[in-house]
Amino acid sequence: MLRLEELRATLQERGLSSVWLAAEQCGQASTHRLALDLLQVDWKTYDRQRKALLQAHAAAAANYQPPNLIPPSLEEASLHKDAQQCGEAALREGGVAILTVAGGQASRLGFVGPKGAFPIAPLSGSSLFQLLAGQISRLRQLFHPGLPWVIQTGPGNHQQTVDFFQRHSFFGLGSTTVHFVCQGTLPALSPKGQLLLAAPDKLFRNPDGHGGVFRAMKRSGCLQKLRGQGVHTLYYCQVDNPLALVGDPIFLGHHLLAEARMSVKVVEKTDPEEKVGLVVQEGERTLCVEYSDLSAEIQAQRAQDGGLQFRAGNIAIHAFELNFMEEMAEAHLPLHLARKDIPSLTADGFCLRKQKGVKFETFVFDALPLAGQTIVQMARRDDEFAPVKNRCGVDSIATSRQALLQRTQRWLQQAGIEPPFTDTQKLPRMELQPGLCLHPADLAAQKPRLQWYPGPVLGIQKNDRKEQRNG
Ligand code: UD1
Repeated sequence: MLRLEELRATLQERGLSSVWLAAEQCGQASTHRLALDLLQVDWKTYDRQRKALLQAHAAAAANYQPPNLIPPSLEEASLHKDAQQCGEAALREGGVAILTVAGGQASRLGFVGPKGAFPIAPLSGSSLFQLLAGQISRLRQLFHPGLPWVIQTGPGNHQQTVDFFQRHSFFGLGSTTVHFVCQGTLPALSPKGQLLLAAPDKLFRNPDGHGGVFRAMKRSGCLQKLRGQGVHTLYYCQVDNPLALVGDPIFLGHHLLAEARMSVKVVEKTDPEEKVGLVVQEGERTLCVEYSDLSAEIQAQRAQDGGLQFRAGNIAIHAFELNFMEEMAEAHLPLHLARKDIPSLTADGFCLRKQKGVKFETFVFDALPLAGQTIVQMARRDDEFAPVKNRCGVDSIATSRQALLQRTQRWLQQAGIEPPFTDTQKLPRMELQPGLCLHPADLAAQKPRLQWYPGPVLGIQKNDRKEQRNG
């Protein structure tokens, strides 16, 4: 780490010395606190940020091809026999950990608190975290009792997230197998590359994007810890998708059999305007291009079958080789810029007001082209993807809840379970207890123990659950 004189020189070399002005006016203590903050800045990254500011935005190239797609896990079981065996073996031998990125707040939903605490289940009000915890609990019953769960939080919600888990007794998962890793931050800059101040003694920083997960995992020692436990593969999902098939053994199996280093699940994009990233092939490389980086014409191109030429919509579900994650912690992922009005101190240091500035983030999917070997697996949207992003409209609380209800109805039918209600055709309002099953066949296998609770929620009584675990 730099010493104070070196720090002053570093700032001077970059024309940043005016950052001291406001703190110096406030006194020595203030200057000292600012120095401590500045000592945390990674100057190599700052230099990249500044370079990125000056570079014109590169238009996406047009020589993309659609990627090869593996069919969905919940379809054509015969195609997945080997993959299923391989994925289940990896889970059983303790080679897998689950990683969920949950660094965002739920402000877009009008909810105060970490997004994972949002009560998404339509009838019981179970939170996004509880639904994920349920799936992990079922994976533990079926495959490995110590399956680790890593939750990547952000500086704005870390403590709230830990408190939420403590209040809910870690949803029965045990506090020693649930790990919280807080992502880092990047300083925001003025359009000319000056550091912005949130206060005289404090830089304005923002979370470094979900691409920060690699560094956070390495710096916290979490990767090392997992490696020590025999983990070699991570299943990654976002907290905002309650339909994710957490730890899907078939996806993991395909990834492992192909000796892939990073893999991705996609759904068919049917509306050219849908805001999902697109997974495409460019020569040997697989990449994910954000919707905002692709021209409308490319997004609207049609293939011979009438569907969109580029239809592999990224649902942000990945599998990672642990070694690859470690390499990515040192890689220079591209910096994505968001130009915003940022509440910051004016140049004279006297006034805090919204000024034009630039926030920087890295994205996890930018690691895909660096992975060499990847697989891309299709998922059925109504089985695996209904993110909750907005308060209303598309990808909203209502659409996500509706998708949960509809999937429950379909899975019950597939499992041959007749609900004891008469109005279900008209209004399919039923829920599965969190962690009851991973897929319809798993549900069918538990038929004799199932019972309906008021709600109506289908589940297994607590005592029966314990027996099931023991046996
Ligand atoms: C994201 C993907 C998009 C994909 C879609 C699927 C980006 C830029 N785009 O869109 O390609 O089709 O999901 O749902 O990500 N998060 C952190 N730390 C951060 C920022 C985000 O942990 O600094 C987490 C959030 O808690 C959330 C997830 O990452 O779980 C996604 O972030 P969000 O900003 O909602 O991404 P989208 O723009 O919706």
